[in-house]
Amino acid sequence: MALLEAQDITVRFGGLVAVDAVSARFGAGELVGIIGPNGAGKTTFFNAISGVQPVTSGRLQVAGRELTGRGPHRFAAHGLARTFQTPRVFADMSVLSNVEFGLKFAGKRPRKYWLWGEEEGVAWVLRDAPRILQLIGLSAQADVPAGSITPSQQRLLEIGMALATRPRLLLLDEVAAGLTEAELEDMARLIRRLRDELDLTVIWIEHAVTTLLRHVERVLVLHQGKLIADGTPREVVRNPEVIEAYLGDEMAEASL
Ligand SMILES: Nc1ncnc2c1ncn2[C@@H]1O[C@H](COP(=O)(O)OP(=O)(O)OP(=O)(O)O)[C@@H](O)[C@H]1O
Ligand SMILES: [Mg+2]
Repeated sequence: MALLEAQDITVRFGGLVAVDAVSARFGAGELVGIIGPNGAGKTTFFNAISGVQPVTSGRLQVAGRELTGRGPHRFAAHGLARTFQTPRVFADMSVLSNVEFGLKFAGKRPRKYWLWGEEEGVAWVLRDAPRILQLIGLSAQADVPAGSITPSQQRLLEIGMALATRPRLLLLDEVAAGLTEAELEDMARLIRRLRDELDLTVIWIEHAVTTLLRHVERVLVLHQGKLIADGTPREVVRNPEVIEAYLGDEMAEASL
């Protein structure tokens, strides 16, 4: 059974079809990238599959449960966590308190949704805030206000806050935007570790296509709201429609 199944998801804003009949299944433990030009509908698709944006039509199932039309809290309660393209941290609270906020949310999750959240089933690293800070590399910043750390550290913190809710499925929206090459590689490695060591399903939107394609096993390409490709990085960079719409010829020649 797919952890998340999106069937024919369409989101309209007035006359604009931001997401156009997109269907995709995401299995347990997958690391999947989503790429596409600006305005392709990537964030809107994320908003739809996390309950943040009501869908115009289509169906959403999380672990076999019908969640179409439900709000973000229901999706979160079923193990879905996400970051936002613009980081949303509590600026006046310490870095540590921001992560503790996520842990409190996990603690409040109704028991019936806790099948994967039982303490023994939770990776040790997600059991307390200091360990989460260690994982994301922000231990030294624990006590400073979240508003005073750098934007790239805020992106890491947002990942930490999402992890603290003990998700099974993590959606990352451009967490590497604005990072230096070195930071970008570190971020990609962190994302791999989350999947490998914490057994998460991760869906990752990023414009840094070369890095993304080196780290994911599968990639979806959106263009003008439509899903134009869903395959391995090797397949996708050779797909004529993808080359035409987004990547150009150089990527097809890059060694993948
Ligand atoms: N709330 C909204 N109301 C109206 N139009 C919207 C809204 N949100 C997004 N759009 C439009 O929907 C389309 C898809 O936007 P979206 O933000 O999903 O693209 P994206 O692929 O995430 O782009 P980017 O790479 O720039 O982040 C764009 O044309 C955008 O202007
Ligand atoms: Mg976006």
